[in-house]
Amino acid sequence: MSISDVLKELKASEIRRMFELAAKREDSISLGIGEPDFPTPNNIKEGAKKALDADATHYAPNAGIPELREAIAEKSRRENGIDCTADEVLVTIGATEGLFLAFASILKEGDEVLVPAPAFLTYNASISLAGGRSIEVPCMEKNNFHINAKEIEQSINNRTRAIIIASPNNPTGAALSKEELKSIAELAIEKDLFIITDEVYERFMYDGKKSFSIASIPEARDKTITINSFSKTYAMTGWRIGYAIASKEIFSKMLKLHMYLASCVNTFSQYGALEALIGGYESVDKMIAEYARRRSYVYDRLSAMKHVRVTKPEGAFYFFPNIEDTNLSSADFCDRLFDETGVVVVNGEAFGECGSGHVRISYATSMEKLEKAMDRMESFLEKI
Ligand SMILES: Cc1ncc(COP(=O)(O)O)c(C=O)c1O
Repeated sequence: MSISDVLKELKASEIRRMFELAAKREDSISLGIGEPDFPTPNNIKEGAKKALDADATHYAPNAGIPELREAIAEKSRRENGIDCTADEVLVTIGATEGLFLAFASILKEGDEVLVPAPAFLTYNASISLAGGRSIEVPCMEKNNFHINAKEIEQSINNRTRAIIIASPNNPTGAALSKEELKSIAELAIEKDLFIITDEVYERFMYDGKKSFSIASIPEARDKTITINSFSKTYAMTGWRIGYAIASKEIFSKMLKLHMYLASCVNTFSQYGALEALIGGYESVDKMIAEYARRRSYVYDRLSAMKHVRVTKPEGAFYFFPNIEDTNLSSADFCDRLFDETGVVVVNGEAFGECGSGHVRISYATSMEKLEKAMDRMESFLEKI
């Protein structure tokens, strides 16, 4: 199928629709969108301002400014255990572009990508645009939305080309253990599949747990494309900057596409991102501590509500509660909750068929708004 044919079939994002809806009502509280409510830390803004003042306003090298690629490689070796060099790092327009470049560089027409679902909705669109087919592999609520190698293996056939793993996950917040990720990597190696690992929520881990990068496994390194971003960690969603790490062969394909699609990432954003890496984690840790506080609060509130069954997420900033007991479909639940209370949550089906019976709640919003939203949701559920 051509890209224009795929575009005819693609639906607009459900999340955006809810976002626009929320903007129409003054008393609305949006728990719909997955973006940090904090401002970008000052040192990062200063880094970009300095770059602007120094006239860093021209094209950057296609793959990114050398200092940033070097800093990303160094961070990935030190923190993620990924044995990589700067020439395997591609600076991208957020993780969103990185994902598309990755799929487009490895897929042939009709190749299948296994997508543990519910999953971030861009995966399906991106895979289709790259000529592939996404195959949902359900992550069970009874397993806290974790998935294991055995469950994935059942969906592998001779058209399977890759597996995408997002841990911590959007929308469920599930974070796979090192052992779970290792056995998925072993399966991929055995079946000669690529692994695309979306690590944008790597720092959003709670209760002392740590994320794990599949590319740190030496045998998996060359078949793994690591996708990451500054968007969530540093509250930089609007800067549009992320990166991909891949073997030299895949890197050079991704670079060619990036070159023709975008040329390069905004030059002064790259200096801001460099400052983020140099500046350390003090402001990030403060934000994460606040997310952790909100997570505990929302968990306690949801757990006490009628008709709701909630899994405690290990990472990211979402809850994905089950609302089947309301006897409303996920879509009706979202519509009625908005109409009757002004609270916006996202229909779980936006993240795949197996998201049915669930809604996604983002707690990337102030405690004050969360308190109000939880009060309103509680009285809505009392009346059902
Ligand atoms: C799992 C996941 N991957 C990637 C992205 C896209 O991030 P970026 O802003 O870097 O394009 C998001 C954004 O919501 C996400 O949730």
